[in-house]
Amino acid sequence: MNSATVSAGRILRPTRAEIRLSAVRNNLKKIKKAVSPARLLFMVKANAYGHGAAGLSRLAEREGLAWGFGVSSVEEGLALRADGIKGPVLVLGSLYPFKSFVEAINAGLIVTIASLDAARQVIAAARKLGKKAVCHMKLETGMGRIGARRPSLLKIYDELSASGSVEVAGLYTHLSSADSDPDYTGAQLSIFSETAAELEARGVRGLLLHCANSCAAMNCPVSRMDLVRCGIAAYGLAEGFEPALSLKSSIVFIKNVREGAFISYNKSFRADRPLKIATIPVGYGDGYLRRFSNKADVLIGGLRCRVLGNVTMDMIMADVTAVKDSAVGSEAVLLGRQGAAEITAAELADLAGTITYEIVTLISARVPRVYVE
Ligand SMILES: Cc1ncc(COP(=O)(O)O)c(C=O)c1O
Repeated sequence: MNSATVSAGRILRPTRAEIRLSAVRNNLKKIKKAVSPARLLFMVKANAYGHGAAGLSRLAEREGLAWGFGVSSVEEGLALRADGIKGPVLVLGSLYPFKSFVEAINAGLIVTIASLDAARQVIAAARKLGKKAVCHMKLETGMGRIGARRPSLLKIYDELSASGSVEVAGLYTHLSSADSDPDYTGAQLSIFSETAAELEARGVRGLLLHCANSCAAMNCPVSRMDLVRCGIAAYGLAEGFEPALSLKSSIVFIKNVREGAFISYNKSFRADRPLKIATIPVGYGDGYLRRFSNKADVLIGGLRCRVLGNVTMDMIMADVTAVKDSAVGSEAVLLGRQGAAEITAAELADLAGTITYEIVTLISARVPRVYVE
């Protein structure tokens, strides 16, 4: 299912994620301007952090807002090609099983090579297909996830370039602490630059060099190099950018309860006075976390209404006692703005003890993504 482009006509349940295209457009333009002449790899992995990869990649390609796209797996890259994306697509994950190199090469995806084993496998796959593969090498500088250390990276380069079957088009690393530890970031960048210089001293030219995520791209000019890989800023969840996603629904049931009434599983809320309570069709099956039980607010009639009792799989209850005129059909905003009020991803992340990335990425496939200008 292409969860990114559900047409409004097919939506029956009122729960939906609305993505403001103008916000994504403005954010991408702002990044591009700030990092120029470096180019922008728009990170659309994990369904564009929950925002819908197809719709946003098409927007970026159509309007020339990004040089290319970053995904985490061959499947995500193939989905972009199926959605009509023609530009460069870099698969940032490690490719295993190695037979997926064949699919990646056939679809013209740029693969990441982070080990000698993978280098040999991509050479074999390219030879078998009679097609040239394109790769970026990944250097380990301190993230401790995937990446070759400098000595093996140089060996990898030698084998790939000697093969004649693989074009080594780039070299990159990932910064683990760009938002929290400038010294560590500086040390990572030094290892990277020394390795790039060593390759250059051996006569290697024209590699696309890239290290920066959103935070580094905006705040650490030396990290920009040839390409920046930005996700969270494009979605407006970094300082100075416009949030693009709102999670919205409507009241589907409403009732008045007496003092002492219990609400939701395990009697997780008890009314200490008569209350008017609305039921909203969103739950942890949609990515609205159970951790929000009795903690998060929902916006109804422009007011903050507390979620009462445990979040269930498909529904939550909220206190609408103070909202005059609330009724079945009234809009409920779970994330985003309503009038002057706003629930931010940062607020929800704090309540759940997590980061904004997780709040938006976990919005599940059953929530239609609706694009609005
Ligand atoms: C390798 C890599 N590069 C870039 C990014 C983008 O980071 P951000 O969303 O902070 O811009 C990520 C995100 O997880 C990543 O894994």
